[in-house]
Amino acid sequence: MKKTKLKELLNSLTLEEKIGQLIQLSGEFYNASDISLGPQRKLGITQRMVDLSGSVLNVTGAKEIHRLQQKHLAKKGHAIPLLFMSDIVYGYKTVYPIPLGMGATWNPALVKKAYENAAEEAYAGGQQVAFAPMVDLVHDARWGRVLESTGEDPYLNSCFANAMVSGFQSGLEDGKGIVSCVKHFAAYGAVEGGREYNSADMSISNLFQNYLPSYKAAIQAGAKMVMTSLTTLNGVPATADKWLLNNILRKSWGFDGVVISDYASIYELTQHGFALNDQDAAYKALDAGVDIDMKSPCYANGLKPLLEDGRLSESKIDEATWRVLSLKNDLGLFEDPFRGSSEELENQDLLTSSKRKLARELGRESMVLLKNDNKVLPLKAHSNRKIALIGPYADEQSMLGLWAIHGDTKNTVTFKAGISEYVDTDNLVVEKGTDIIRDKDFFIHSGRDEDRVECVISDAATEKLNHDRAIAAAADADVIIFAGGEHTLQSGEAGSRTKLRLPDNQQKLLNELATLGKPIISVIISGRPLVLTDIIADSDAVIEAWFPGIEGGHALADIVFGTYNPSGRLSMSMPYVESQAPIYYNHLSTGRPQKTSQHVGRFVSRYTDAPTGPLFSFGYGLSYGSVIYHKPKIDKTSIKEGESVTLSVAVENPSKIDRTETVQLYFHDEAASVVQPVKRLINFKREIVPAEKTINVVFEVKPKMLGFYNQLGEYIVEPGKFELMVGQNSNETQAVKFYLED
Ligand code: NOJ
Repeated sequence: MKKTKLKELLNSLTLEEKIGQLIQLSGEFYNASDISLGPQRKLGITQRMVDLSGSVLNVTGAKEIHRLQQKHLAKKGHAIPLLFMSDIVYGYKTVYPIPLGMGATWNPALVKKAYENAAEEAYAGGQQVAFAPMVDLVHDARWGRVLESTGEDPYLNSCFANAMVSGFQSGLEDGKGIVSCVKHFAAYGAVEGGREYNSADMSISNLFQNYLPSYKAAIQAGAKMVMTSLTTLNGVPATADKWLLNNILRKSWGFDGVVISDYASIYELTQHGFALNDQDAAYKALDAGVDIDMKSPCYANGLKPLLEDGRLSESKIDEATWRVLSLKNDLGLFEDPFRGSSEELENQDLLTSSKRKLARELGRESMVLLKNDNKVLPLKAHSNRKIALIGPYADEQSMLGLWAIHGDTKNTVTFKAGISEYVDTDNLVVEKGTDIIRDKDFFIHSGRDEDRVECVISDAATEKLNHDRAIAAAADADVIIFAGGEHTLQSGEAGSRTKLRLPDNQQKLLNELATLGKPIISVIISGRPLVLTDIIADSDAVIEAWFPGIEGGHALADIVFGTYNPSGRLSMSMPYVESQAPIYYNHLSTGRPQKTSQHVGRFVSRYTDAPTGPLFSFGYGLSYGSVIYHKPKIDKTSIKEGESVTLSVAVENPSKIDRTETVQLYFHDEAASVVQPVKRLINFKREIVPAEKTINVVFEVKPKMLGFYNQLGEYIVEPGKFELMVGQNSNETQAVKFYLED
């Protein structure tokens, strides 16, 4: 529709009709199947407002979406098509590894393809907007939603934010693709203590330097929507933060798309003690720039009285309505309210073999080999060695993680199925050994009925039988693969935890397996960096597999049997012990660093009862074979504005197997007017280093890459002495120094 026609439409709407466009409800309001996660609450809004609502949350499938759209358009009035939005966080039907696993690929180009695929599937199924990516930077593994983040580094996260948004939206110009709604603006990942829905409080320079860049990257990649955060930032709820939504997002970054609240977050302004009541909350959110109220009664019931009281002007409502109508128009909904979706297209585009192939590739690139003593891995395929595959994830399809709400675990390739393709039947025994978790209270607190499949706890006799069979199988085997990890409900939204270890029953089983004296390869499923200290001690090899997606079994088997040389590198530090949290590599320099302080012994920055650093640091991961990083060289030791310094490093692979190296470039500003991190990633190159060859990896560094944000949120580059550090992870680097002249 032409803009002038759209303006005419806006002008012809009644106040109620305009307010309707600013309301989003979930399936249950339309008698549709509702797959939303989140608290159910009677909203207390009139049927009239339900009928006028402009968008729908988490209804799935072309058939259902067509039914709702047709019903809606048949109503009297302006019949403006509904917008269908949904959480398509890491795949639609083809579920990929969780974003924390995607982060570990360090491969944004491949991740972009996954988001293109997700968009193609979701488009076929009638979805128009994805509530993704979640680009919240994370430092604290206690927070369950680290699962949805690509990790702790602003530069790496920005690369992924760009890839994910461009993937979703790549077909938009041609009427394909779906709109990306980046979330949760801003700094949800910094919730204090890692406790869900808690507040975030930080310095302005920290906010600009670490937390804001990934949202900005998403906006620069063209994201057409933004979702606010449920939390407060420096005392102001993000859902009513004028400075964030207006000054930063719209004015400074030039965002002109639609802002939506998070689930009930306008209503929760009252709970925060920021608004007096629903009406006050509606005023504060709309005034700050929130266009759509997701699943709360505030706009539906509050906007009209606010106008009648003269507190709100209609132009504010018009602005928000205009943005919603423009988005609908950009998507071509006035011409085709179904946007080309159909059941036929679903049959053609969902879960295709090429999409599954990509899920397998991403799955294996996401897995991180953390330990491999005595080259226990890779195993030889179809050898005579007997393998015992033991553990609750040995033959388990629930490996998709909490936010794969459109996925079906029935489509998952289990570890058993994947490994079976490499081992003769007589040489593979598979035993569960124990349940994933045996804590009834945990399921009850998770709000799940005990009789749901994923909540079943075996009775004592079955548990004993499982245990005995596992120990017998392991005792009879030459090598044990232990597959354990977190339960799906232990991470993800509202999955904050203080104990980040394997459930006790699993750890006990692993301890017992370790007494058998056989080589043990542990494979860990998790939505966060767990504390793996005990697992590492019990195992010869450890693979962090995250929630690996529907091709998880194939991906793991490719690594275990060496058809894929593991290349995953952590994008979030793995703590040595829970109480180190928050722990991250790019922390600020302290006056008394443990290693280089003039003080010795007690009076330095350290823990007295645990290592100061993590068990595995950012960027860490092993591959098969070996690698040597030669001394890096730079072409100049001093540069001026307008010049650049070139660093080159020879990376040698003396082994007989090709490997993928993620060569990581960090820097440190030796003296600045705001204290700087000990190290900051500024670039990386993911290169294949062929067997017995050396490659030269070159980076160009320009002065503008060396700046930082001051306490006013301004980006500045200060001349001085800099250190460039290059290596295979944030902890093993070699440095060269140079000057940036005045
Ligand atoms: C709440 C979550 O915080 C958000 O990420 C999600 O998009 C909405 N619910 C809608 O499901």
